[in-house]
Amino acid sequence: MSPIGKNPPNCATPQGRSDVSTSFSHDDPGSVTPTPIGADDVGRRSATVPAIACRGLCKSFRGTQVLFDVNLAVESREVVVIIGPSGSGKSTLLRCLCQLEEIDDGEITFEGTVVIRRQHRRPIARASPREAEAMRGEIGMVFQSFNLFPHLSVLRNVTLAPKRVRRIPDAQLQDLALELLSRVGLAHKAAAYPAHLSGGQQQRVAIARALAMQPRIMLFDEVTSALDPELVGEVLQVMRQLAQDGMTMLIVTHEMDFARQVADRIIFMDAGRIVEEGAPSEIFRAPRHERTRLFLQRMLDRVGTGRDDS
Ligand SMILES: Nc1ncnc2c1ncn2[C@@H]1O[C@H](COP(=O)(O)OP(=O)(O)O)[C@@H](O)[C@H]1O
Ligand SMILES: [Mg+2]
Repeated sequence: MSPIGKNPPNCATPQGRSDVSTSFSHDDPGSVTPTPIGADDVGRRSATVPAIACRGLCKSFRGTQVLFDVNLAVESREVVVIIGPSGSGKSTLLRCLCQLEEIDDGEITFEGTVVIRRQHRRPIARASPREAEAMRGEIGMVFQSFNLFPHLSVLRNVTLAPKRVRRIPDAQLQDLALELLSRVGLAHKAAAYPAHLSGGQQQRVAIARALAMQPRIMLFDEVTSALDPELVGEVLQVMRQLAQDGMTMLIVTHEMDFARQVADRIIFMDAGRIVEEGAPSEIFRAPRHERTRLFLQRMLDRVGTGRDDS
């Protein structure tokens, strides 16, 4: 395991952080000379470039720090599941990774290219608005709330964003949308309106909508939390299939059985920090940290099962 560099100032020293190997190769982090984005960043790529990664990521809201020196690298085709108690910073981390939040300190890279690097809260390097937009388009994000447009059919909800951004001919786009809807089991609902769908169906449309941008990585933030229990399975099944098809995925979930089945790696976060990470069998069978053990116990108590079928 490689050390992850210095903690940026303004960023509290992590406690109990696990070192997460990344494939970065960077200049002296003490340097504050602005670095242009471009050819030199291509030169920084190593043999295995993570699909998405952050290093030393710190984030505060109105003076309260909620992420502390977070280091994470998701490899291409890897399925990483983040678990942890409410308020531990899971959503904020995902939102930072897909540029919905400005970070205070640290660095985010997408396929080896710097999206943003800040130090002492100052930007050291940043992708141009056009590059940043392009990278954002490569990241699909699905949230707890589906936010479909109620006045548009399912098909138009799915084609809307790629029609604007990707400039794919209409006929081709329609074929793509129908193919994606059939992938989530909803081709027969293409002409329906969201109000006529169940929550589980709407969430599956939301997944098809994100896939329509043909993203390189999908981020899922508690996408089944708002669903009635009987609708959770159909959404998890779609995600399971995506994982089997080789999609790179970063998933926040409280569905522990699903996490155990689908994840290549589990990350446990608490109080804004990555406390530990490992293979599902390691984390679920033999967590190293007391905080992880207590959290897992609470989750098992909640669903009333102590089964371990990993
Ligand atoms: N936009 C915001 N403004 C202020 N505080 C926020 C905002 N978003 C999240 N927080 C705070 O950041 C902390 C982490 O929140 P969050 O990332 O939503 O945690 P989780 O997803 O693990 O439940 C919480 O204390 C939350 O109240
Ligand atoms: Mg959350």
